[in-house]
Amino acid sequence: MTWELKEFDVVLSTNETACDYPPFTVVIAGRQLKGRGRMGRVWQSPLGNLYASFVFPKTQTPPAFLSFLLGVSVVQTLHKPVALKWPNDILLNGKKCGGILLEQEDDKIIAGLGLNLSSCPKSGVMYPVTHLGYRGTPALFTKRLLKSIEKNYELLETKGFPYLREIWLSHAYGLKGPVKAVLPNKELTGIFYDLTPNGELVLITPDNKKHLISCGDIFFKKP
Ligand code: BTN
Repeated sequence: MTWELKEFDVVLSTNETACDYPPFTVVIAGRQLKGRGRMGRVWQSPLGNLYASFVFPKTQTPPAFLSFLLGVSVVQTLHKPVALKWPNDILLNGKKCGGILLEQEDDKIIAGLGLNLSSCPKSGVMYPVTHLGYRGTPALFTKRLLKSIEKNYELLETKGFPYLREIWLSHAYGLKGPVKAVLPNKELTGIFYDLTPNGELVLITPDNKKHLISCGDIFFKKP
């Protein structure tokens, strides 16, 4: 499937603009005035970084798989040792350099990707951040990224999630290490043991109980 690229100088949020376009369109913008992150957070969006929203059709494939697809595609496009932090973050040297926000609109899934190509926030974020020191333009990066996305989407739709899951796991941040999950109604600490075939994080608590986490904030202890 071939993607169409729509480029804007400035928008409120590419995720919002993308709602106006059909599946297999990617909307990018130089700046966002109301960039949004997960959990209602603000995504600072100055010139020079990547703000892209990919419009996928709603299919039998669970939307969460698209987030793993984007993460794996970013890893395959960058020649840097980036790691994927469950469920939606991209890290370089243990610091966040990108994030993914999935939203649904009618019969479409909008997968928004923010990537700190050349700068990162100096304040206003609660976690360590960094940037990729990428020298090309966001449009150039998007075109390269689309090649991976096309290939991975074809695989996901024809062969299902197992193939992507394996690649995602090979780049997973903190796998088999200590983790704290902050869930809507409780906190759990234990070991990040695995990823289920549905994309849930498997956390084993000290009493040897297995917990499947499907949403929430995850904190890793530094190695
Ligand atoms: C996160 O909180 O980690 C997710 C951040 C997602 C930011 C991207 S930038 C492009 C798209 N448009 C938005 O308003 N948000 C996403």
